Amino acid sequence: MKVDVLLGLQWGDEGKGKIVDVLTPKYDIIARFQGGPNAGHTLIFDGQKHVLHTIPSGVFRPGTKNVVGNGVVIDPVIFKREITQLIAAGVDPRPNLLISRRAHLILPTHRLLDAASEQAKGKAKIGSTLKGIGPTYMDKTGRNGLRVGDLTSGKFEERYDALKAKHLGLLAQFPNFTFDLASVEAEWHEAVNELRELQLIDTEHYLNEALDAGKRVLAEGAQGAMLDIDFGTYPFVTSSNTIAAGACNGLGVGPGRIGEVIGIFKAYCTRVGSGPFPTELLDETGEALRQAGGEFGATTGRPRRCGWLDLVQLRYACRVNGVTQLAMMKADILSGFDKIPVCHSYVHEGEQIPNLPFGIEPDEVTPVFSDHKGWQEDLTGVTAEAEFPESLSTYIDMVEREVDTPIKVISVGPDRAQTIKR
Ligand code: GDP
Ligand code: IMO
Ligand code: MG
Repeated sequence: MKVDVLLGLQWGDEGKGKIVDVLTPKYDIIARFQGGPNAGHTLIFDGQKHVLHTIPSGVFRPGTKNVVGNGVVIDPVIFKREITQLIAAGVDPRPNLLISRRAHLILPTHRLLDAASEQAKGKAKIGSTLKGIGPTYMDKTGRNGLRVGDLTSGKFEERYDALKAKHLGLLAQFPNFTFDLASVEAEWHEAVNELRELQLIDTEHYLNEALDAGKRVLAEGAQGAMLDIDFGTYPFVTSSNTIAAGACNGLGVGPGRIGEVIGIFKAYCTRVGSGPFPTELLDETGEALRQAGGEFGATTGRPRRCGWLDLVQLRYACRVNGVTQLAMMKADILSGFDKIPVCHSYVHEGEQIPNLPFGIEPDEVTPVFSDHKGWQEDLTGVTAEAEFPESLSTYIDMVEREVDTPIKVISVGPDRAQTIKR
């Protein structure tokens, strides 16, 4: 069997959690391969809303195994909180939760370093989620990190102290940054003790053997293509490979084992944090999209920046991910606009171009829009494609043509049930 990969094609928050939940009955295993508690994946069903950060979105479907792969970074405190909240909601994820020994741990001092670095950057800050993501991946590539597998080593405390000492040395370079480590550290050690009790395994063997045995695996991406460390709007990106290739090194499966690549995008576009966003609307239309779409971060509560669909950006994301099929989210939010502008190319160095260039800051590209006819109908009760307003159907056709990839799912509301498969 192959691993299908589901990922975000914009700047995150496309609705990945919802679609993973919808697709989970087709799979035996759902596996997260990168990112960590910077993610916030929302699932809504039976009138209940759940937000997951590190635990895969397959957790609500009985019998599905959920793997936290080696490419993920884990904050034991947030992980523990997620488990507690799930148990309170009636789902104990622990029997079906498998955690890679190779996943790196976010230390309290990683979180402090994230905050200190952001504070020092001032106006140039990334707008990170302050979860310690950047510093943890820096320690991973710098070969200093602590991994889940180290939790069972007799030298864990010693290694923790050594890394903490190194971090305190770095924090001393930020004299204006004050912090209280003792309280967060106690909480962290308590959470680590609970993490140690979970199923910590070599997920690369588990997954490859499961595939050999005919099990179906879905890899769940976090963030989105434009936040990818290599292909995103660097430096305003996250610190992992969010694209499909990240599933190979974040899970330990070979590229030949990748099957479908399912790309998720909003019918418009949002971004949270700093960095360029060519189609951003800084006017009342942007505010209208934010209110209608409830565009406030699932992890940080920050208002999301809103703008029109950017096909240059989407084309790029399809290309670097090798997307084989698309899911278009939040079509319902576009109801009520007379016309919907869509960016199909950029003007760059005096030339109109269809492909994303090296830089997309305002002084580097100007988006070129064409107006698409809007629709007035409320879509939230629509249950079949035959009920789509004509201008929604032409919007879907236009996107498929522009990015040369089929749209297989249209989402018309946040609930699991508000999903139309084509
Ligand atoms: P993720 O990070 O990609 O999983 O996405 P988030 O959960 O951060 O953000 C997506 C938001 O949109 C959540 O509040 C979802 O409940 C909501 N959502 C997902 N699909 C739809 C949809 O088709 N229509 C509407 N109105 N909301 C949706
Ligand atoms: P999901 O999985 C949206 C953004 C942050 C910031 C940048 C770097 O829910 O789609 P980091 O904390 O990773 O160092 O922040 O990336 N960011 C996200 N934006 N959705 C996410 O995850 C995000 N995870 C990180 O806002 O701009
Ligand atoms: Mg999110």
